[in-house]
Order: sequence, then C-alpha cells, then structure tokens
Amino acid sequence: SPPHHYSFSPSSLSVDIQGLQRQIEELSSFSDAPAPAVTRILYSQKDVLARRYGTEAALSAVATGSHIDAIPYSGKYDGVIGVLGAIEAINVLKRSGFQPKRSLEVIMFTSEEPTRFGISCLGSRLLAGNEELAIALKQAVDGKNVSFLEAARSAGYAVHEDDLSSVFLKKDYYFSFIELHIEQGPILEEEGIPIGIVTAIAAPASISIDFEGNGGHAGAVLMPARNDAGLAAAELALAVEKHVLDSGSFDTVGTVGVMELHPGAVNSIPSKTHVEIDTRDIDEERRNVVVNKIHQSAVRIAENRGVKLSKFKIVNQDPPALSSNSIISTMREATKQLNVSFKLMISRAYHDSLFMARISPMGMIFIPCYKGYSHKPEEFASAQDIANGVKVLALTLAKLSAE
Ligand code: GLV
Ligand code: MN
Ligand code: MN
Ligand code: MN
Repeated sequence: SPPHHYSFSPSSLSVDIQGLQRQIEELSSFSDAPAPAVTRILYSQKDVLARRYGTEAALSAVATGSHIDAIPYSGKYDGVIGVLGAIEAINVLKRSGFQPKRSLEVIMFTSEEPTRFGISCLGSRLLAGNEELAIALKQAVDGKNVSFLEAARSAGYAVHEDDLSSVFLKKDYYFSFIELHIEQGPILEEEGIPIGIVTAIAAPASISIDFEGNGGHAGAVLMPARNDAGLAAAELALAVEKHVLDSGSFDTVGTVGVMELHPGAVNSIPSKTHVEIDTRDIDEERRNVVVNKIHQSAVRIAENRGVKLSKFKIVNQDPPALSSNSIISTMREATKQLNVSFKLMISRAYHDSLFMARISPMGMIFIPCYKGYSHKPEEFASAQDIANGVKVLALTLAKLSAE
C-alpha cells in the first residue's frame, strides 16, 4: 500500500510526559484503598468522581462558539472565527498549562443563517427552549421540498424520536456564553481599535410575502387590464425603504433581499411574486412600528393593484438582547491585562448569542474586518486581529472558568 502522508514529521511528535505522569498521580488519589494501592470500582463514588476529574462537575460550564454555515456568495470569516477561534482559545489555555475549574465547552451552532429553512439561528433558538419552533420545524421544508428532519438525518444527525425539544436547555445551564465574531461593520477598523465588547444585539424581524395576479401575455394584455404581481412587490420594496427612513433613527434598517418573479420570463406579466424582508433596530418598539407599516402597505398595495396578498407571514420578530454586565467587566479586565484597547459597541448583526442570552449570561467579542465587509466574498480579518480576538477570548474563558 502507498506510504501515508502526514502534514508533520513523525520524529517531531512530542509527548508531555511530566504532565501525563502528574495526571496519573492525581487520578490515583481517587481510590477506596490507601496509596499506593488503587481501588476504583465501577460507579462507586470514587469512580464517578474520577470520571469527572479535572473539572468541578457540579459547577455549570462556560460555553463559547458560533456557526460555520454561510449564506450564498459570502466570505470565510463570518461565524468561522468564533468556532475555530474558540478551539484555538482552548488550545492556548492548554498550552499555557491552565486548569479550568468549570468545564469549557465549544458549540458549533446549526443554521445560524436562514438561507435553507427560512429562519435563522435554529440551533440556538432550540437550545433556548423555543417550543413553537420545535413543533413548526417538524413541518418545515426547504426550497426543494426536503424536510428539516430528512435533511438532518441524511447529513448523519439523528434527531431523537423527531422530538426537537430534547435539545432544550434549562435556564442557567451554562455559567456564561461567549461568542467571538468579526464586527461585520466598519467602526473598529476606522477607529483603529482591535477589540469590540458588545453591550447589546439589535432586534431582528423578517417577513415572508406572496402576491398573486392573473399574469398573461406581455404584449397582448393592455395596461388597464393588468394586475401585475411584480409591480406590487416593487411598490412594497419602496414602501419598506420609506417606512424605515420615516422612523427618524439611523438605527432602523430594512432590506428586501429576496424578490422572486413567477414565471420569470421577459414576455410574461408576473403572476406571482415572493418577497422576503429583513428589518432591525436597537429599539424593539420602533422596529415593530415598521413591521406594522409594512403589513398595512402590503394590504393597501394588493387592494389598489387588484392582486391577492396570498401570504403575509412574520417569520421572526425577536427582542434585542443585552450582554451581561459582569461578563463585560471580565472582558474589560482581559483586554487590560493583554494591553489591547477596546470599544463598547452594539451588534447590528444578529448572532446565536441573541438566543443564548435567554438562558445564560452572554457576552460577545468583536474583531475588526476589512472595510466592515461581510456577507460578501471580500470579507477579511487580519491574522493580527484574529490573534488578539482569540487571546481576549482565551483569557475571558479562563477567568470565567475559575469563578
Ligand atoms: C446574520 O447573519 C445576520 O444577518 O445578522
Ligand atoms: Mn452571517
Ligand atoms: Mn455570523
Ligand atoms: Mn450572523
């Protein structure tokens, strides 16, 4: 058989034999017989304690993580920095010889992005105990009519008796949850600040809409006889922009990111359109006003144009989340000890942290990204900025896990 190719030289493998021997000695103290004898019978108290050796198992764990799924034509760093960076942060602590008191866990969340099943942050919403979603997801299908459960199973994930509520976590299951992420905005880079400490995450909402008209031949049907579902969608898109601008705050944003025309032929009047709208604000009330106005506009536009508003579904309408003050203080201390400057800031993008905050004290660390680019291929974070972020994460985890 051909020789194996490793990315390392076998002669470079080194074993931390002192560390290993120290651990063998420590583990031998979990014994019902006096040293140097070891008696450790299955499921005896000493056996159970020995299995948990290394952490204080009664204490809740400190968790960190993010996502690696990516929307179409996006970049390399969104989410990925918070997963691979978390694993590296744990390695940093291991190499430094740090012994955690609380366990440290890395989470890679499922479907932070809404691309496939229409709703974002499936994993974190479910961990946070969203009953409605656990039920609704059993019926959910993607654009090709593949169900969520089918998709999960075919990717090798077993969903226990189709009961998604089996993943719900109790409140305070984690002692704290931290997410490292690129800023996805330009502020840190513009101001030359290496670390952002997030104080709050803006409140996102998204809406799914269908209009239906009669369609018809683009040449033969005269203008007065038309009820063009495409124009209804176009008019609604402009109404979304108007309602957002009318809020009077630059914190209000709205995007029509999906607009599909059916049948999508140049010489056919659109008979059906599908529109998806994303709107966010740091102020939940103001965001809700925009959602209501979008609804009123959709109804009015359908009436005026004689099309049917066959679907108006608010997919999600989430409140904002606040970071934990005590985690913010811990992060501030970490940046101070590492001698890197920081800025307190709001996250305008949403993250799994938005939902983890419902069951755990939450904190987020931002690092700069090139020109604030995200959700496009030009997304970039420098090695130096990533390294700073991982260090701040590592030190924050160490402090929290020692509390
Ligand atoms: C998440 O990707 C977001 O849209 O904020
Ligand atoms: Mn994203
Ligand atoms: Mn992300
Ligand atoms: Mn995101």
